[in-house]
Amino acid sequence: MFLVFTTVFFWAFLSVPLVDCSIDLQQESWNELSHQFVHLAKKCYLSRDIFMMRLHHLTDRNVTCNDGTPAGYYLRRAHGSKRWIVYLEGGEFCTSAESCEARYSDMTHLMSSARWNPVKEGSGILSTKQHLNPTWWNANHVYVPYCSSDAWIGNASANETGERFSFVGSRILERVFTELMSKGLEHAERVLLAGSSAGGIGVILNLDRIAKRLQTGGFKIDVRGLADSGWYLDIPSCPAGGKHCQRAKIQENVTKMAIAYWRGVVPDDCARRNPQKKWKCFFGEQVYRTDDKSPKHSPLFVFQWLYDSAQLVWSIGAHIMRPGQLSDEEQARVSYIGNEVRNSFNRTKGLSCAVFAPSCIFHSILNQNDWLNVLVKGKNLNQALNDWYQSSGQTTQDCQTLIETECTVPQCALTCPSGWKLMGQRSRSKHTKPPSD
Ligand SMILES: *[C@@H]1O[C@H](CO)[C@@H](O)[C@H](O)[C@H]1NC(C)=O
Ligand SMILES: *[C@@H]1O[C@H](CO)[C@@H](O)[C@H](O)[C@H]1NC(C)=O
Ligand SMILES: *[C@@H]1O[C@H](CO)[C@@H](O)[C@H](O)[C@H]1NC(C)=O
Ligand SMILES: *[C@@H]1O[C@H](CO)[C@@H](O)[C@H](O)[C@H]1NC(C)=O
Ligand SMILES: *[C@@H]1O[C@H](CO)[C@@H](O)[C@H](O)[C@H]1NC(C)=O
Repeated sequence: MFLVFTTVFFWAFLSVPLVDCSIDLQQESWNELSHQFVHLAKKCYLSRDIFMMRLHHLTDRNVTCNDGTPAGYYLRRAHGSKRWIVYLEGGEFCTSAESCEARYSDMTHLMSSARWNPVKEGSGILSTKQHLNPTWWNANHVYVPYCSSDAWIGNASANETGERFSFVGSRILERVFTELMSKGLEHAERVLLAGSSAGGIGVILNLDRIAKRLQTGGFKIDVRGLADSGWYLDIPSCPAGGKHCQRAKIQENVTKMAIAYWRGVVPDDCARRNPQKKWKCFFGEQVYRTDDKSPKHSPLFVFQWLYDSAQLVWSIGAHIMRPGQLSDEEQARVSYIGNEVRNSFNRTKGLSCAVFAPSCIFHSILNQNDWLNVLVKGKNLNQALNDWYQSSGQTTQDCQTLIETECTVPQCALTCPSGWKLMGQRSRSKHTKPPSD
């Protein structure tokens, strides 16, 4: 009786997912109960445990971070919810022995689990605060830390390659899903695979494979993707002249090298369509440019800043982050890229038709607590996601295409975040003024 009461009380009082907060009621004495009650309050509320995700290392110790430490995931169960969001962390990548060695000194936490915290508090779309996260606050939350430096596509274990580092992002993701099954995912009705930046690329390149795995074995799980800032262009042409053609060529080389170095796994269908140019399958548009033989994709929602700062750096150079110093040619190039991002959604229409693309210079959004501020055509990202999530996501009528079209120069919308953001860093620059168009 008391157990029922306390449980209900806690549900009502905290209105948050109840995790690991059991009370042992074998002892009937009031003293003992009140003692336990205080203990429970301390454990579950004062320590804020139920707001936290808890670290689980993978039990398969062959599936590791770059440096051989075990990979893992953070989980916060929301008992009673059959919705799961599995979020892939981002943080660039490295593409050669030298660049990975440098990364290991500068960004060890992105290559090793040795110093991961046992608990983690979610933010943005993983926040448990309803006012910051009106739809997903009470879903099951999984945060998968990024420690493979391979945009989640690698399949090269150091054991097999003899290299110092392993790059097994695609295996980590498969293994996380396998191990989540026994943690409650087998009862899920809906799974949203989300990720930002390199995690967004991971969503685009792994979604169909993961969905297929989850949907075999009789599980009827609705699996969808949400790719934040992972829709990069392979910049097919170089209209502004020689210098940018050179950068396009470097981008092609780096991508080729990276995929070979990681033994990157790209979607089968894209590899079939690009037998000599597998590197192109690193880019969302190529993955979603299908033909008659292509299998149906799982529904994907793409969030992309039209002037994603990582895309601009990639295509123009790091000095893009110091506005006011751009030549006319470079400014033309910035506009060209915004247009190309818009056009790429037109070219893949009907395949990745759910799009939210504000006209801002920034990078990533989902893990930020102010993620609801930016509006396109009067809607925020959460509202657009809800409309899409309530539809089948499979037909053209279900498209939620919110691409900024009225304000077509960078940073002209009032709701753009101030301060430009370069990959992984927040508001690095104080400049809020865009380059003039
Ligand atoms: C781990 O790798 C070793 C050697 O490569 C292999 O013998 C073993 O079966 C693997 N373990 C798992 C759980 O896959
Ligand atoms: C490599 O193989 C050894 C044993 O054969 C195993 O203990 C280790 O976990 C493996 N490492 C990786 C990264 O697969
Ligand atoms: C990963 O590599 C192994 C061989 O090391 C291969 O058997 C497996 O099919 C690859 N995985 C994918 C998804 O291609
Ligand atoms: C790209 O790679 C090719 C062959 O490996 C090389 O000849 C070319 O110079 C490279 N281009 C750039 C811009 O790095
Ligand atoms: C997409 O294409 C349609 C016509 O096919 C055109 O009217 C529209 O302006 C295009 N949208 C963008 C964002 O380029």
